[in-house]
Amino acid sequence: MLKTRLALVGAGVIGKRHLKAIGEVAEAELVAISDTNAEAESLARDNEVPFFMSTEEMLSTQRPDGVFVCTPTEAHLEPVLSALKSKAHVLVEKPITASMEEAELIIRSSQECVREVLVGHHRRYYGMIQKVRDLIRGGGLGQLVGISGLWAVRKPDSYYEPDWRKQRSSGPVLINLIHEIDLLRYLCGELVSVSAKTRRGLRDHPKEETAAVLLEFVDGAVGTFLLSDVAPSPWTWEQAVGENPDFPRSAQNVYRFIGSKAALDFPNLVLWQHEGHPRDWVHEISPEPIAVEFEDPYVAQCRHFCAVINGTEQPRITALDAAKTLRATLAVFEAADKGMEVRL
Ligand SMILES: NC(=O)c1ccc[n+]([C@@H]2O[C@H](COP(=O)([O-])OP(=O)(O)OC[C@H]3O[C@@H](n4cnc5c(N)ncnc54)[C@H](O)[C@@H]3O)[C@@H](O)[C@H]2O)c1
Repeated sequence: MLKTRLALVGAGVIGKRHLKAIGEVAEAELVAISDTNAEAESLARDNEVPFFMSTEEMLSTQRPDGVFVCTPTEAHLEPVLSALKSKAHVLVEKPITASMEEAELIIRSSQECVREVLVGHHRRYYGMIQKVRDLIRGGGLGQLVGISGLWAVRKPDSYYEPDWRKQRSSGPVLINLIHEIDLLRYLCGELVSVSAKTRRGLRDHPKEETAAVLLEFVDGAVGTFLLSDVAPSPWTWEQAVGENPDFPRSAQNVYRFIGSKAALDFPNLVLWQHEGHPRDWVHEISPEPIAVEFEDPYVAQCRHFCAVINGTEQPRITALDAAKTLRATLAVFEAADKGMEVRL
């Protein structure tokens, strides 16, 4: 089998996760690692691939087919543009960039270079997510009326040692809420407005700590989402599904979707509906579990990246799509700062 030659730029927390996934995809081959920190060289040695401190040099000498860009958000733009220019396809971590201006540069360059830019919104690769998308979009809940979501943890102090994580560009809105907003756009359709309040002050960082967000969707549904990185709880997506061994599984539900016919606990997937009519609160409503198998979305994402590079699948997310998620997420700051609803 001719393998798809992949390189990694930025071998930190998430870069290592992608390395593991690449190792589990038969059609993928890791060919090089670049990182501005010389300490990452040992990782390249462990993986028996050449190491570069210059991404340009790596691209020109190794000519990978695809590049994972896993640098801090503020440093996404340059390696993405360099990789596109070298004619590689790109999978850049989320958020696509820290600003809409940079995201637009990437969209333009992707079109000019005729190369795809996928963005690491890895939740789109769960079979469970496809199931829920089909259920909601296929009318399984009736008309979607509303969504309630929660993400609350206390991140460890060590997480905030790198200065870039204390900034707004890497606070819980742009690092964590963006996953929720992308998920909601993917499941429920386009967002048309965002309102929000943010709070900070328990830690001495410029970034926000807590946000309450009101969302309005194109088909009329409304939703609320509460987010905090200073409040310990079992209610985050990561703890709910146990996708990351670093965050012990809580198996709690973190979302509820409600429609005119039925309601869904998520991600444990329990569908609540009445057997027959009338569907009202004086008649019993019954829970029906929907079976799903856990799978590693990073492996599925890497396999999909190879298929996109080889032209056998269309991207499940493009730079343009991810830019819409970024726009909606940045609107949380705009709405909170101005104290007004932001139309998207
Ligand atoms: N999909 C997810 O669930 C998920 C999870 C965590 C992080 N992320 C995203 O991944 C990105 C990286 O986060 P992280 O936590 O892995 O960061 P990190 O600090 O652990 O790793 C970043 C790595 O990039 C290297 N680096 C910095 N500038 C570079 C440059 N110009 N060229 C090459 N290497 C460079 C650093 O030396 C470091 O090794 C962020 O955008 C973050 O939002 C996504």
